[in-house]
Amino acid sequence: MLFGKKSAVGVDIGSHSIKVCHLNEGGKGLYLKRFDVAPLPPDSVVDGAVMNFTHVQEKLKELVVANKLKGKPATLAVSGHSVIIKKISLPEMSQQELDASIMWEAEQYIPFDIKEVNVDVQILDPKAGQGQMDVLLVAAKKDVINDYVSIAVDAGLEPAVVDVDTFAVQNMFELNYGFPPNETVALVNVGASMININIITNGITQFTRDISMGGALLTEEIQRQLNVSYEEAEHYKTGGSESISSSAVFKEVQRLGDRVAATLVTEIQRSVEFFKATSSGEEISKVFLAGGAAQMAALVRLIEQRLEVPAELVNPFKNIVIDTKKFDIALLQKIASAAGVVVGLALRRGADK
Ligand SMILES: Nc1ncnc2c1ncn2[C@@H]1O[C@H](COP(=O)(O)OP(=O)(O)OP(=O)(O)O)[C@@H](O)[C@H]1O
Ligand SMILES: [Mg+2]
Repeated sequence: MLFGKKSAVGVDIGSHSIKVCHLNEGGKGLYLKRFDVAPLPPDSVVDGAVMNFTHVQEKLKELVVANKLKGKPATLAVSGHSVIIKKISLPEMSQQELDASIMWEAEQYIPFDIKEVNVDVQILDPKAGQGQMDVLLVAAKKDVINDYVSIAVDAGLEPAVVDVDTFAVQNMFELNYGFPPNETVALVNVGASMININIITNGITQFTRDISMGGALLTEEIQRQLNVSYEEAEHYKTGGSESISSSAVFKEVQRLGDRVAATLVTEIQRSVEFFKATSSGEEISKVFLAGGAAQMAALVRLIEQRLEVPAELVNPFKNIVIDTKKFDIALLQKIASAAGVVVGLALRRGADK
């Protein structure tokens, strides 16, 4: 069984919106109890750090009240410059020995004072050869974690676990798609201001990278080129042709969209090339895209063209039972890709980090 009696609520505080998700175990498997999204004003969260506490607090409180989440345990996530994920090689040892020595070992891999971070380790391959083992080291800045935790507490939640966006997407993917044996897949989460890349072989992370770029680039371009507000630009981006009165404007939005998608794909491609150059010959067989900005029209096509592998938009609700009387399925499908992180967070329980 995945859950104890008290399943945690996933809370994803992104730079574009806050998402909450609550799952429960039912007779037919996991079902969706709550899912909701609240857009944030621009610049409330910048590079994974909260800039405007009032905005974030207010929006999260609204979500907690509207979805009756008060007093529930919550799983949060951090990402961006305050998080360091590294695959390192250490002499073979037990998990206990590793836990005892990791603060000392980690110091050389982390560009921050070791006292300022929370460190977590996971043995990826206990026998990587020549008496060495592969370990995944994750460190996150305490002050950033504390900000997220205090916002959640203030909103009436009981934060229990702090995860990392990248690994939340990985958990979401495992539930819905599973990892094909002996294959390497790339999970790419394209948000408003961050792209999280996670390249996985046999369910084990080979490479991760966060790129500080995302769909907000297109919003800014539309604002600048068409001289419209943030809200109007967002509307143009997401509403499709019906929200745009003139076809000249529609064409211009499309043109800017193609250009920004090309910029994002160039960055993704650079990371993939770096992975290829440093890995032991693993070939990526497929790219799975999550995140709101993965819905940009040209993105999937451009990834396929440039990386020469098939790409697909994920559906985080694929293996989750949804009551059509409670949820607007059409609306849910439309925004589904943006739920990649929050569904992964809702799957977590226990105190892993
Ligand atoms: N249909 C769509 N077409 C194009 N862009 C879209 C669409 N739907 C959402 N977006 C864009 O996706 C972005 C939001 O994605 P997401 O919710 O994954 O970001 P976030 O988690 O809030 O941000 P972060 O990057 O900080 O994680 C916004 O830039 C939004 O405009
Ligand atoms: Mg996000």
